[in-house]
Amino acid sequence: MRFDLVVKGGTLLTSEGARKGDIGVRGGKIAEIGPSLSGRKVLEAGGTYVIPGGGDVHTHLDMPLGGVTVTADDFATGSLAAACGGTTTIIDYAAQTKGRSMREALDVWRRKADGRSIVDYGFHMSLPEVTEKGLEEMDRLVREGVTTFKLFMAYPGRFMLGDGDIYRVMERSRGNGGMVLLHAENGPVIDVLTREALRRGHRSPRFHPQVRPVAAEAEAVSRALALADMAGARVYIVHLSTAKALAHVREARRAERPVFAETCPQYLYLSDKEYLRPGFEAAKYVMAPPLRPRGNEEALWEGLRSGWLQVVATDHCSFDYRGTRKRPGKELGRGDFTKIPGGVPGIETRMLLLWDAVQRGLLSQARFVEVACTAPAKLFGLYPRKGALERGSDADIVLIDPFRRHMISAKTHHMNVDYNPYEGLCTRGSVKHVLIRGRDVVRDYEPVPRPPKGVFLKRRPV
Ligand code: URP
Ligand code: ZN
Ligand code: ZN
Repeated sequence: MRFDLVVKGGTLLTSEGARKGDIGVRGGKIAEIGPSLSGRKVLEAGGTYVIPGGGDVHTHLDMPLGGVTVTADDFATGSLAAACGGTTTIIDYAAQTKGRSMREALDVWRRKADGRSIVDYGFHMSLPEVTEKGLEEMDRLVREGVTTFKLFMAYPGRFMLGDGDIYRVMERSRGNGGMVLLHAENGPVIDVLTREALRRGHRSPRFHPQVRPVAAEAEAVSRALALADMAGARVYIVHLSTAKALAHVREARRAERPVFAETCPQYLYLSDKEYLRPGFEAAKYVMAPPLRPRGNEEALWEGLRSGWLQVVATDHCSFDYRGTRKRPGKELGRGDFTKIPGGVPGIETRMLLLWDAVQRGLLSQARFVEVACTAPAKLFGLYPRKGALERGSDADIVLIDPFRRHMISAKTHHMNVDYNPYEGLCTRGSVKHVLIRGRDVVRDYEPVPRPPKGVFLKRRPV
């Protein structure tokens, strides 16, 4: 049987382990896995690891910020950068506006992504308020493949929901098959600490981590899990950053409750030392939650190894350091750190950093595939179409060259942002080739000239 394409002679790496084999691709799907397959085209994979395309389930592309600016990456630039880093599926956050419908937000985000995204994409919906109409709309969105709803426990007066409203959304999600995602930080306390810091004249970005303490996250995670328990709902904590917060997740999972959590490369690789950078440089690392004291990352790695943490996603939210008049960046907060647009870029570097962790013995090969590719697909209703090397899966295939080094730098990255938080870090391993539904997107370490476009992914409730 001849295939459109055969990926030949590589070591296939999945969340189950490594094996030798060829992959036969037909009609954009994996049609066969076996020895000595032949096809009209052959992609030589000898000397590489062949993995399922990565899934980044936490991105903010083309995201406006309070009418002041917009993220540096839109769906065209951000998704191309994702592909260059071995990520072939993203789930971005569509944001409902107060007084408007979720449908309207979804339409807006579809227009941003359709015909522009290079990788396949789905959406979460973030909710700034809870109304009876909104709860009914949730049911409809779940049926249309938007199955996950982000709620904020931070930012009072803007996005924060009270416990009663969080509980109502959780209860609804239990009935309609959706899942609640929580930004878990204690917003009211953070607001008090922020006001006190400004009153004392603490205006530089080095004070950012001090107003968002470890305990503010740990308390909110613990409360979120208690609310989920009362509602009998599944819950997923986004961008978990501390050992203390992880301890609450571990306890809930030990009790066999349906609790899941992601962490992000920035919390694994960087620490609050970045806030001691001279001048305004610390602004590059302003994000919520903030970078944490050293030691937390050890607990997070252990969490990934032992399964207490299921996913590594990026929270890619890029703002230029310098910015332009049309699209201001971090400098908006010169003289007042609370006005610095929050977030870091990372959509391109997630898989590279995690593979480097494999080379350094921090993560097994199988766990790498699990947390970067397979668990994101499973938890968000895309498996086995995504996140797997199986007959019938989309032929989203990434070839990793394990020995070629990759120097991370804003000078060479594909993200449309003027700095890289990992500048100068050299990973062991590079992304050699990326196929999305059987078509070349990255070839010999470079994006192809006119890459094919991604498609909207209607996700299943899980
Ligand atoms: O600072 C961050 N993380 N900005 C992105 C929005 C969010 O809360 O995930
Ligand atoms: Zn968040
Ligand atoms: Zn986010």
